[in-house]
Amino acid sequence: MSLVAETAALLTRLGVPAALMQGGQRAATSPITGETIADVHDTSAEGVDQVLNAAHQAYLAWRAVPAPRRGELVRLLGEELRAAKADLGLLVTIEAGKTLSEGLGEVQEMIDICDYAVGLSRQLFGLTLATERADHRMMETWHPLGVVAVISAFNFPVAVWSWNAAIALVCGDPVVWKPSEKTPLTALATQAIFERASVRFGDAPANLSTVVLGGRDVGEALVRSPLARLVSATGSTAMGRSVGPIVAARFGRSLLELGGNNATIVAPSADLDLTLRGVAFAAMGTAGQRCTSLRRLLVHRSVYDAFLPRLKAAYASVKIGDPRAADTLVGPLIDASSLDAMERALAGARDQGGSVCGGQRVVGPGQGVYVRPAIAEMPSQSDIVLRETFAPILYVLSYDELDEAIAINNAAPQGLSSSIFTNDVREAERFCSATGSDCGIANVNIGPSGAEIGGAFGGEKETGGGREAGSDSWKAYMRRATNTVNYGSSLPLAQGVKFDI
Ligand code: UN1
Repeated sequence: MSLVAETAALLTRLGVPAALMQGGQRAATSPITGETIADVHDTSAEGVDQVLNAAHQAYLAWRAVPAPRRGELVRLLGEELRAAKADLGLLVTIEAGKTLSEGLGEVQEMIDICDYAVGLSRQLFGLTLATERADHRMMETWHPLGVVAVISAFNFPVAVWSWNAAIALVCGDPVVWKPSEKTPLTALATQAIFERASVRFGDAPANLSTVVLGGRDVGEALVRSPLARLVSATGSTAMGRSVGPIVAARFGRSLLELGGNNATIVAPSADLDLTLRGVAFAAMGTAGQRCTSLRRLLVHRSVYDAFLPRLKAAYASVKIGDPRAADTLVGPLIDASSLDAMERALAGARDQGGSVCGGQRVVGPGQGVYVRPAIAEMPSQSDIVLRETFAPILYVLSYDELDEAIAINNAAPQGLSSSIFTNDVREAERFCSATGSDCGIANVNIGPSGAEIGGAFGGEKETGGGREAGSDSWKAYMRRATNTVNYGSSLPLAQGVKFDI
């Protein structure tokens, strides 16, 4: 079956109305072959305003629904995702180019966050605080915030929506989603899945979840609207630099998940078998197109010669090709512009004294852009190493002292993820401490990518500072009220102030 026919059959099974994927002005393509697989319709800027107004109406109703009942909608969403997992996972593979195992893993991540959010729907608790006044009670309550605008990137075309949507919905917030221009079909499929959950729920307000499609103007209309009380945006640091100030200027809230330039330290005591597997997945998995992908490997001089040849052998033998094939580990780049960026970065690495292996284009199906992941051994952490290139390039540096390795780790302008391979408990603890990695994620004996949803996900510095998914990330999706209640019959003022009339 052709890819076009396979995609059409999948979309039909997933419940996407045919009219949404035909006759539109925007081509949806598959990186597997580079071919057009559907034509979708952009939303106009006025259309975005209508969607936001409708979502705001949904908010006015949804905020009054008890949170555990809101959780029931997310429980049903999790059930629908379980039923659709195989189809949606394959669609992720077709549209984003990640391997089938990773496509299915992405849908699993959606299911996981739904389960998490259902539990959370009974745990949106606030504190009771000590008050200085007799016969008073002081407490915090958490309330729904308003419409959440979600802007997501191509590389996690559905999971990022779910980290936001599952939490937002139990918190009482409708979601308006602008997916990447490169991945509209998985968004339409996710919306169809959501609508099935909503029908089963019965009395959910209309427009709790909406997808808007299009380019920069559509994103900007969302970001500028005061109705979008929280803008949760995942993408490049450049995108965050334009979104952040616009939202701040209208005193909106933003949750930014931007670039990463993640490092792993390989210490003298590292278990090199474990390290090899961890590094290979983190650097080559998803063809180096995760924000958490490993980009900088800092290897202690004493293990450098033992480790590098093994790593290079893994790079030379890894199976590259159609991500639907069971033995493929590295699928295509999203498009030719990624290959250009990769080639420019490798030329820069050579100019800056690096020695490169890999990076050659590999023949794959159709016009897909396939490339052998590259290792660039660098004499120092030069400019090119400090730049995030969204492609499978691993810069390798050597170090002598842990302090030096931590300083190299922390010298990147971004601060998303990091890890250390060591069997030395002092090194491991130091890396996780206040004087260790400055990233939002600091791991020991695993790579920097592949986080699970229970933790707060995000990072510091140019990564944007936002946290989504687990832990207490839900607080970004609610407004906090401090309530002081006087149950006595006098009116003592705080700080001993007197005002007797
Ligand atoms: C991203 O690339 O935008 O930790 C997110 C990971 C995934 C999420 C990556 N759970 O690699």
